[in-house]
Amino acid sequence: MSITDQEEEPASAERPLRTPRARTVLMCRPEHFDVVYRINPWMNPGLPTDTSLAVRQWDELYRLYVGLGFDVRLIEPLAGLPDMVYAANGAFVIGNIAYGASFAYPERQPEAPAYRAWLRGEGFEVVAPRAVNEGEGDFLLVGETILAGTGFRSSSASHREVAEVYGREVLTLRLVDPSFYHLDTALAVLDDTPGREHIAYLPPAFDADSRALLAERYPDAILVDGDDAAVLGLNAFSDGYHVVIASRALDFARQLRDHGYEAMGVDLSELLLGGGGVKCCTLELRR
Ligand code: ARG
Repeated sequence: MSITDQEEEPASAERPLRTPRARTVLMCRPEHFDVVYRINPWMNPGLPTDTSLAVRQWDELYRLYVGLGFDVRLIEPLAGLPDMVYAANGAFVIGNIAYGASFAYPERQPEAPAYRAWLRGEGFEVVAPRAVNEGEGDFLLVGETILAGTGFRSSSASHREVAEVYGREVLTLRLVDPSFYHLDTALAVLDDTPGREHIAYLPPAFDADSRALLAERYPDAILVDGDDAAVLGLNAFSDGYHVVIASRALDFARQLRDHGYEAMGVDLSELLLGGGGVKCCTLELRR
């Protein structure tokens, strides 16, 4: 029996057939990774960090993406910018338009021009932001709709700006738990295909209005428990079938399998010390 025969299981109403689409992503090797300031509750500058371990763990994520057929682009890491590895925060990109980041904390502000310059060099039309926003950390495209987080980093003014820039519906979601300070730490897009939108999230990370909105818009969403969220399990990246997640998010992996996805675990424990995981290291270039 071939491997395919062994793995094949009938698609059913409970286990929908999922379709992968190879992605183009931008990443930044954590050569200068460290925790030297504290801008989220995960960060403790008093604890030791191991930069070479961070690089090895990140390399594993990089190789996994390449193995999935992704086009992985790289931006040069800059000394003195220890959080630059979290490429998701560098911009938000749909089509040829890149909406630049404007970081909430001064420690990360110099990353914004570096990402903008890279995107410009690749031929993207880069829109300079007026409002504070941390790129794909707080903006996620699901179908035709942009989900936008606020509460800790990106301002509500940036949500209005994004709506203008892309001429799309933007749903504002308010984050209330400081441990889940970016939208991509509390909500994962599993299928972004219009008409088949599917997400996973941690309900208590959102205020009551946002929870009601999510329940109404995504009634079939996977609700993730606190233990899996606490290892940043929701900070995941999906190609529509393969979902790359923190290897310690075991229940979430099981939920994903039950919903017809293939969960692929990676250990980014070192980057978790900075408050980031799989998705934080990944900026999707949707061209
Ligand atoms: N230390 C970084 C910060 O606090 C982590 C960013 C994580 N990125 C993300 N997309 N959630 O800004």
